[in-house]
Amino acid sequence: MNRSFDVGARLEEFPRERLALTPTPLDELTNLSDRLGTGVLLKRDDLTGLALGGDKPRKLEYEIAYGRQRNTDVLVTCGSMQSNHARLTSAAARKLGLDCALVLSRDAYDDLQGNLLTVRLLGADIRVVDAEDHWDLEPQALALCEELRERGRRPHYIPISGTTPHSCLGYVRGGLELAEQINTSGRHPDAIYLPFGTGGIFTALLFTLRNQGIASPVIGISVNRSRSECHENFTHWWTALGELLGAAAPPPQDFEIHDDFVGREYGDPTAACLDAILLVARTEGVFLDPVYSGKTFAGFLAHHAAGRWTEQHQVLILHSGGVPALFAYHDALAQHLAKRG
Ligand SMILES: Cc1ncc(COP(=O)(O)O)c(C=O)c1O
Repeated sequence: MNRSFDVGARLEEFPRERLALTPTPLDELTNLSDRLGTGVLLKRDDLTGLALGGDKPRKLEYEIAYGRQRNTDVLVTCGSMQSNHARLTSAAARKLGLDCALVLSRDAYDDLQGNLLTVRLLGADIRVVDAEDHWDLEPQALALCEELRERGRRPHYIPISGTTPHSCLGYVRGGLELAEQINTSGRHPDAIYLPFGTGGIFTALLFTLRNQGIASPVIGISVNRSRSECHENFTHWWTALGELLGAAAPPPQDFEIHDDFVGREYGDPTAACLDAILLVARTEGVFLDPVYSGKTFAGFLAHHAAGRWTEQHQVLILHSGGVPALFAYHDALAQHLAKRG
């Protein structure tokens, strides 16, 4: 990593729409820290403002600006029935006077609740399909783009989770913001925990934190893929981001990815995840989500229980949002509450 590369100046050369309310707070979770005996800081990207917040407003600022340079009038994307990305792409489209068309894969979380309710409220054009793997809806989404073109529309396709080289720029900006907050706090965390889905957030934050001289260990908690698949995705996005910025560099090795908190599959509300949701709600009045931040916390709490973190340490955890999905998980939460009280 070339630390003399001025990533902030380079970022200013890319067009950007304004969607996210930033900087988001870096909160000290004092009650939770007292309970655990380890300092916990929470980067509140659940509070980015647009349509109940999360990571996507940062990503979409750059991706939609790129699409608008190509004169798009309709955003097309895909995801699960409880896709946060579908909610926020639909909301961003409305805010910017565009339309949004969605391909969603049928799954168990199909109540008119949570994110699915929000996309209906936002008036997105929704196509529900049956798919083996909701991470692989690209053929159906591209077919929808073709149909829209035949009808005279100008679709801009945004892949699952909104991860593209341009959208990674949103978390380059987020990384600059976080590096400044860490430097202002006067103490570099002993670890930074991040969710790992496609790896867009993880790659762009690691890239920027290292560029800014933040050497804290960065720990990714996979929400779907195996460790080796996450490593492959990381290398892919690292290369793509470096090329876009004109700062190509070999991918670093100084990070960790854990794949033992996924459960049976993506979105599985594991007991550890649900326990983390209750713990953080009951100590801090903060809601985690059952798919990303709950799993990220479950990873941190397991490491803490194994003795990795003590009173000497302070860790920083990214809350990337996703909280509306809580409402679609009411059955799993009700069962868990019945067990735990
Ligand atoms: C709330 C939330 N956090 C994290 C992620 C994962 O981000 P990435 O795909 O960039 O790893 C997603 C992806 O959809 C998300 O919705």
